Amino acid sequence: MIIVGETNQVRENVNDLSERGNAQSHGANVGLIGDKITIRGGRPLVGRIEVKGAKNLVTKAMVAALLGETPSILRDVPNISDVRIVRGLLEAHGVKVTEGDEPGSLQLDPVDVESAHYADIDAHAGSSRIPILFCGPLLHRLGEAFIPELGGCRIGDRPIDYHLEVLRKFGAVVEKQPDGIRMSAPNGLKGTKVELPYPSVGATEQVLLTAVRAEGITELKNAAIEPEIMDLINILQKMGAIITVDTDRVIRIEGVESLQGYQHRALFDRNEAASWAAAALATDGDIFVGGAKQAEMLTFLNVFRKVGGAFDIHDDGIRFYHPGGDLKPVIIETDVHPGFMTDWQQPLVIALTHAHGVSIVHETVYEQRFGFVDALVEMGATIQIHRECLGGHPCRFGQRNFNHSAVIAGPTKLVGADIEVPDLRGGFSHLIAALTAEGTSTVSNVGIISRGYENFITKLRLLGADFDLEG
Ligand code: EPZ
Repeated sequence: MIIVGETNQVRENVNDLSERGNAQSHGANVGLIGDKITIRGGRPLVGRIEVKGAKNLVTKAMVAALLGETPSILRDVPNISDVRIVRGLLEAHGVKVTEGDEPGSLQLDPVDVESAHYADIDAHAGSSRIPILFCGPLLHRLGEAFIPELGGCRIGDRPIDYHLEVLRKFGAVVEKQPDGIRMSAPNGLKGTKVELPYPSVGATEQVLLTAVRAEGITELKNAAIEPEIMDLINILQKMGAIITVDTDRVIRIEGVESLQGYQHRALFDRNEAASWAAAALATDGDIFVGGAKQAEMLTFLNVFRKVGGAFDIHDDGIRFYHPGGDLKPVIIETDVHPGFMTDWQQPLVIALTHAHGVSIVHETVYEQRFGFVDALVEMGATIQIHRECLGGHPCRFGQRNFNHSAVIAGPTKLVGADIEVPDLRGGFSHLIAALTAEGTSTVSNVGIISRGYENFITKLRLLGADFDLEG
């Protein structure tokens, strides 16, 4: 039996690699320390940090390696716990994962892919949603798969109905069982026509990873076209896949009989870059984010400028800074690409608490992504959450009782408090809040942040933050 999965939320410990050495390791237990930071706010963050490959591409690229008949090499892999979870899952299925040809690269050899035992999977499981993407590749390689309950950030219901429907359309037999979902493909997987109800990133990746080796042609309508998906398509093309991206969110895939390994340098993490940019603005700071690029951040940069932030674009990164003067309020609606990403709003909200006037953030991707706001209100922010669609356009959450619009009145001064990180991006925004607050804050559960931010403790130190680690 093949098992793909993870347990529910697992608290990850912070990995402060500069202090513990082992900086290039992507093993499962890297430099574990406590889960609490005491931050003395009020210092601007100033300096240079580097971002590596995008969490939301790298983890999927690692899964894609399962489809090859030869080893793959992935470069610029960040040392984050989501990568370690996927590595563990791949190893549980017989993939040999070793350090690649340069620091921060991984070699993934799928030649001996095999069934995994539940205990092996469980031992490597964590709070990630990636295991659902193992289904297509494992069905191709081994004919069956099993998925225990999934985890991931608690920012909404996050159902997997699109994924299961897609897999059924390819010919998978999906059977819900008390301990998870069992899948098989007794007649192989065949190309199909799919139209997603919403341009879901994960469901689009599910189609891509399944269709590339399915028999015949697959047409996907209403696909997500995030840069991370385009980079996954680049990887699949390197492996031998035939994929056409048409206008109007239509992707066509011609299935091929076999795929080879790839060599690829991952797209930079634009979510991490946007988070540090937001931190620079909120702390009156000046941060050069090495590795950040303009094209994938176009929409963010427009909003950053409208709020009153400044940036200089260089060949090797982007400098983000507070140029002085008052910050201005904005109205933001999160959306699928090329809109303003949902992952950008939480860190930016802290800067909006400093803006002179009323800002609105209408969250249209996840129905519950304002859980992090309670702590900010406790720290002195004036933020109200509403059920109505306040950004200007009605969204699918409008009539459904979800608190998905935030009204932020500023400027307010934040004061230090004891706060607990609720989710990955909300957690980073809590760090920023504590860094800008007057006095001392204790931020607990910060291990969650290491799911998506490589060496964030080291980076905070490099940028001059004043803090102590506890735990
Ligand atoms: C990916 O999540 C990212 N995660 C998220 O990053 C990101 O916020 C999101 O895409 C949107 O860009 C990874 O790549 C690992 P979706 P994913 O499927 O694929 C609904 C971060 O902090 N939906 O595009 O899970 C869903 O509930 C995060 O890095 C269904 O209803 O997102 C949501 O409302 C968090 N049924 C919407 O679609 C389904 O079967 C978009 O979700 C699937 C999704």
